[in-house]
Amino acid sequence: MSMSKEIARAKLCLDGKEYELPVLEGTEGERALDIRRLRATTGMVSYDPGVVNTGVCESNITFVDGEKGILRFRGYDIEDLTEHCSFLEVAYLLVHGFLPTPSEYNAFSKLMNLHSMLHEDMRNFFSLYPDHAHPMAILSAMVVSLSTFYPELELDSTEAIDITVARLLSKLRTIAAFSYKKNMGQPIVYPRSDLRYCENFLNMMFHTPVNGYSPDPVITHALNQLLILHADHEQNCSTSVVRTVGSSRANLYASISAGICALWGPLHGGANQRVIEMLESVIKQGLSAATLIERAKDKADPFKLFGFGHRVYKTYDPRAKVAKKICKQVISHMTRTDPLLEIAQELEERAMADAYFQERNLYPNVDFYTGLSYRAMGIPINMFTVMFAIGRLPGWIAQWLEQRDNAENRIVRPRQVYVGPSRRTVAETLNVSTYSHPGKN
Ligand code: CMC
Repeated sequence: MSMSKEIARAKLCLDGKEYELPVLEGTEGERALDIRRLRATTGMVSYDPGVVNTGVCESNITFVDGEKGILRFRGYDIEDLTEHCSFLEVAYLLVHGFLPTPSEYNAFSKLMNLHSMLHEDMRNFFSLYPDHAHPMAILSAMVVSLSTFYPELELDSTEAIDITVARLLSKLRTIAAFSYKKNMGQPIVYPRSDLRYCENFLNMMFHTPVNGYSPDPVITHALNQLLILHADHEQNCSTSVVRTVGSSRANLYASISAGICALWGPLHGGANQRVIEMLESVIKQGLSAATLIERAKDKADPFKLFGFGHRVYKTYDPRAKVAKKICKQVISHMTRTDPLLEIAQELEERAMADAYFQERNLYPNVDFYTGLSYRAMGIPINMFTVMFAIGRLPGWIAQWLEQRDNAENRIVRPRQVYVGPSRRTVAETLNVSTYSHPGKN
């Protein structure tokens, strides 16, 4: 049953016939042409590469207005959530649809502690990866491996959902920190029950037997805010992957593992790593911000200005506004200055004043400033997309559950317009009367 309202009917004229298509409207006024009966009634499919114009589901989780620069989770503005909530509260909100009461929060927090350890056998996996292994590859492999250690519960009660969410959120953080320690050649640090979510992560990353780690409230707060910025973003590439894999009734771990792989790509979450590499190239290769802008505009050059542009936002990404503020606070708190921040700001100013970027509505996106904060916190560049994945996890879970519980849920199976050769035969092609295929002898 559709939740959106039918507000009108559109007419489609084809081959002298007229068809009516319902026009649906969502709660924030987004209108959609309902083509669910298109093939059954007209014999045609729609053609939409990159799924630029197609709504693939109804969702009550996240609202984005790309023209006005609005992002809301379950009705709350992203600015409101980053100011007043912790990442765990937002995770709870995304999954359950409401903010937790203090007792719900405490119960959830306890579950997070209970499920923060990894099965000891899983530790062996880390030692088998080469030293240069990318942590996103490890993360994806480890998450799907969780399904072999922790068989999936029937997710049919709040309790079972909370256990699974706590297990995934808590263990993803542990896996991420373990893979960093492996990369650094340092002993693994176990999670602690007396530390909160972000403090615990930072402690597992930066505590060593020689130098302990004392939580820094400014950094902990900033990390909470950054993870909230990433927590969901409606039907983006990785979330669509999670939903697509889930639509075949694959388990939650498998679906999330696939989402992590999709996030890794440089046009998606992998852009935060590319942004810093791009900014560093200005210093290392003696380039200027102006050169990067010219390269980004040159259609013969595959180079893109990473951290710029978005499929949905045609104005400043609201997450980038918050991320810019956080990164200035973190940098001034930790290191006072960072030459890369100056280069980033110069790039932004030049791009904003350039007709190419103005005409195409290309603004900084969430990935432009987040990496600078992670860098100031001491998180290495190859872990940036892992940080994005930790943040995005509650959104993936909420979207997976929403799809699973939707009575209209069908396996995702897009159509295509075939443009290959028409029917032909091997005999005609190879002239078999004179040719014998080597494989046959
Ligand atoms: N630098 C230079 N030109 C760009 C850029 C960019 N970063 N982004 C878009 N354009 C141009 C593009 O070449 C096209 O030009 P023309 O109209 O002359 O052909 C026009 O702007 C429209 O872009 P598009 O490729 O149709 O946009 P899209 O919606 O298919 O792609 C995007 C969106 C985010 C993949 C793209 O903007 C991009 O590659 N940006 C850089 C990578 C990046 O920062 N990704 C992070 C996205 S936000 C967080 C996330 O999703 O994880």
